[in-house]
This record gives sequence, structure tokens and C-alpha cells, in this order.
Amino acid sequence: MAGEYGSVIGLVLWHRKFVCISGHQAVADALSNPALSGRPLSFDFLLRTKGLSRGVLMTEGELWKEQRRFTIKHLKDVGVGKSSLEGIILDEIRDLVTDINCSKDGNIMLDDVFTTSVINILWVMVSGTRFKRGDPQMDRLTSCMNGFMRYSNGGPNLLTVVPFIRYIAPELSGYNRLMQYIGPIRSYIEELVAEHRKTLQINAPRDFIDLYLENLIEKESSNNSSFHKEELLGIIFDIFVAGSETTSHTLGFALLFMIMHPHIQNKVQEEIDEVLHGGTPSLTDRGRLPFTEATLQEIQRLGVVAPLTVPHVAQQNTKCQGYHIPKGTLMFINLWSTNIDPQVWPEPNTFLPERHLNDAGKFVKSEKLLTFGLGKRSCIGETLARSTLFLFFVSMMQHFRFESPWNDVDLELQPSLEPIPGLTLAPRPCLARVVKRAL
Ligand code: HEM
Repeated sequence: MAGEYGSVIGLVLWHRKFVCISGHQAVADALSNPALSGRPLSFDFLLRTKGLSRGVLMTEGELWKEQRRFTIKHLKDVGVGKSSLEGIILDEIRDLVTDINCSKDGNIMLDDVFTTSVINILWVMVSGTRFKRGDPQMDRLTSCMNGFMRYSNGGPNLLTVVPFIRYIAPELSGYNRLMQYIGPIRSYIEELVAEHRKTLQINAPRDFIDLYLENLIEKESSNNSSFHKEELLGIIFDIFVAGSETTSHTLGFALLFMIMHPHIQNKVQEEIDEVLHGGTPSLTDRGRLPFTEATLQEIQRLGVVAPLTVPHVAQQNTKCQGYHIPKGTLMFINLWSTNIDPQVWPEPNTFLPERHLNDAGKFVKSEKLLTFGLGKRSCIGETLARSTLFLFFVSMMQHFRFESPWNDVDLELQPSLEPIPGLTLAPRPCLARVVKRAL
């Protein structure tokens, strides 16, 4: 549509104004405009915090500012950007490598290889706990999260427009289905917080929940404090929603790209072997693995997991690329379009890691790639995600070779880059053959 109508397209549907933004320049303008940094009311997200607008993902104004600042600061306190984070990630990698080594027939399903590991990294920082692989509670939480992410659009839907419809047609309106996903996640988080509250020792925080509870107790008596038990539940839910699938699906796509481009997998493995000599990777190795970094960046360019950001709303009348955007307009900002914008990326649909290397063969971190958004609403988990992606990708390439499955598997289970749609894009369930590499 952008080819025909331009990079800013306005629509009016059910008396509501929508604007779709595509192409690198228009997307970058929209994301860096503070007037466009609001969020729509989303029934699905309100439901997770008993109808209150809480958390950081879908809130705005002073509450969002204060809670976003607090979350960024205290995620650092529990490891993000510190050497202790590397230890947490490497523990999970060790477990995963053992698990893959134990796979019986050498074939593994690629859609959820990384789910447990990624959730554990988040969970250790947030609550000091981790799940064992195959833990039934973890499986239940993951399937609820998957369901929520595939079912919710993060924006207005029938339930947002006419919320009382849930009393008349709970099944038909999708209310029952949403509760089926949200209920178990909420109960689990509530239990965790209650347990932390019982065992809390002031000035000896064990994790993010303790840090939040300390603050909550200190500010509880103040009338205008945004610190609240429901806010904590909202933040934990948001970290889980925004941090787990995005990271694990990017890693899933990474393996798919390597299967589809075996000669690039060879080059990545040669570089890793030459530099690490079979040793454990560290974040400090980044500068020494330029082709691997370039490949990871190219994977993020074409393996987009959050193609439309989280929906934005115009908080006041403003302009984008010269077009008037009225207050209240719902914005669909197409990040995917920027990654295949031919003005920015020559041969945009070709998988070409070399495009991220300079003439001296050094990796160039691209300013044009907006994988984590830009401006006031940019991702708060970027440092954590980048560290996780790097260490997992290097370790997987170091320990295993990933190929198309060796048995005659169902066509449906053949590796495919065609994603499953939803609030985030997910790799389709497919089989891969894993060959152990000699270190
Ligand atoms: C590869 C992994 C990830 C990708 C691609 C990604 C991408 C994004 C994008 C595109 C946005 C929306 C920006 C916007 O609306 O304009 C976002 C927001 C957000 N992300 Fe991430 N993210 C990733 C990992 C994480 C992790 C690990 C966390 C955990 C802390 C996280 C937490 C958040 C939160 C809380 C927001 C909402 C920020 C706000 O509205 O103020 N993300 N992310």
C-alpha cells in the first residue's frame, strides 16, 4: 500500500482514526516524535491488572515515566550490563547444550528451543528463581504466554470498545479465552510476590521484586506515589511478555537462517573456532568476532519479531512527514518496512551479513536498524537482549551444526522462514537436524 499511497496513510474505521507509517525516514520521524509516544487503551492489557492501567508497556504519563525509570535502573542493579549477567546467561547455555546433546534421534523442534533458557534469565533477575526444563508449571506459563501473544493485538478490539459485552457473550467476545491465558500467569506472579513479601529483609534485596517491595513500603503512605502492588504485577507481566518471546524467537530465526544459508553457517563457525579455540564465549569477545556480529545483525534485519512496534497513540495534534496527525490517532509504525527499505539497504531481500562490515572487515553497528525502536518508547531490555542473543548464538554455532532434518519429515515440519503472525512474529514449528561439532 505504501508504494501506491506513500509512507503516511490515514484511515478511518468505526469512527476511529488510524495512521500507518512505513519506510525508514517516516518511521524514524514518528518514533522520535514525543507527541506520538502514547499508548492505546487495551482491554487485554487492562485485564492483567484488574482493569487498572498499570505496568510499563501500555501506560503513559507520569506513572509510566516513573515506573520505566525505576525498572531500567533496578534491572541494572540485578545484573543487566554487569559481569554477573554473563554468568546467568552462561549457566542457561550450559543447560541447553546438555539438553540438545541428549536429544535422541539428532532432530530437534526449532520453535521453542530457547524458551526455557530465556525465561529463566529474566526470572532469575526478577524473582531469583529458575525453572527446570520440562517443569509442568513452566510449560503451562509458556503456553499461556504464547496464547496471549497470538490472540492479543495490543490495541483496541471489540472488548475495548464495548467492555460489557463480556457479560453477554463471554465466549464469543473472546473474554473467556483471554482469561484462560491471563489467569494462570497472574496467579503465578501473585504467589511469587506474596512469598517475597513474607521473606523480605529490608536493605538486603535478593532480586527485582525485593527492590520494588522496599520502594513500595517506603512510599506506601504517600498519596501520589505511583508505586503499587498492581503496578509491580503489571511490570513483571510486561517484562515476561515483552522480553521472553522476542528474544527466544529471534534465536529461533537465527538457527533457521543458518540452516537456509549453510555457507554462512560455515563462515561463522570458522571465525568462532579460530578466535575462541573451543573456549567459553564472553561478551568481551564481540570485537573479535566481526563476521558473527554481522550475521547476527543481518538475522535481526530480516528475522523481525516485533514488526509493528507496540501500538502508539498521538497524545496531541502533531505532524509526521508534513501530514497532520490529530490527537488520539492510533499509529501503526511498520518497523519491518524500514528493514527492507531499498533506499537504505541495497538488495534488501538478500541475506548478506557482509553488508554490516566496513572495508577493513570490522563490524559496523547499524544506526538504521530500529529493531528495538527509537525515542521515548524504545525497548528497555535492549542491553539484556543483545547480550543474550550474542552469547547464545555464538555457543550454538560453536557446539552444533544445524541442518535440514534427516528423515523424510512431513512437509509441514520442514524448516521455513514464513512466520506465525501475532503481537510478535514467531517461527513455525519445524524440525532441524543437529550435528555435534568437535571442539
Ligand atoms: C530481541 C529481543 C527484543 C526485541 C526485538 C524487542 C523489541 C522491542 C520493541 C520494538 C519495542 C517497542 C518500541 C515502541 O513501541 O516503539 C519494545 C518495547 C519494550 N521492550 Fe523490548 N525487545 C526485546 C527484548 C526485550 C527484553 C529482554 C525486555 C525485558 C526487560 C524487553 C522489555 C520491553 C518493554 C518493557 C518495552 C516497553 C517500553 C515502553 O513502552 O516504555 N524487551 N521492545
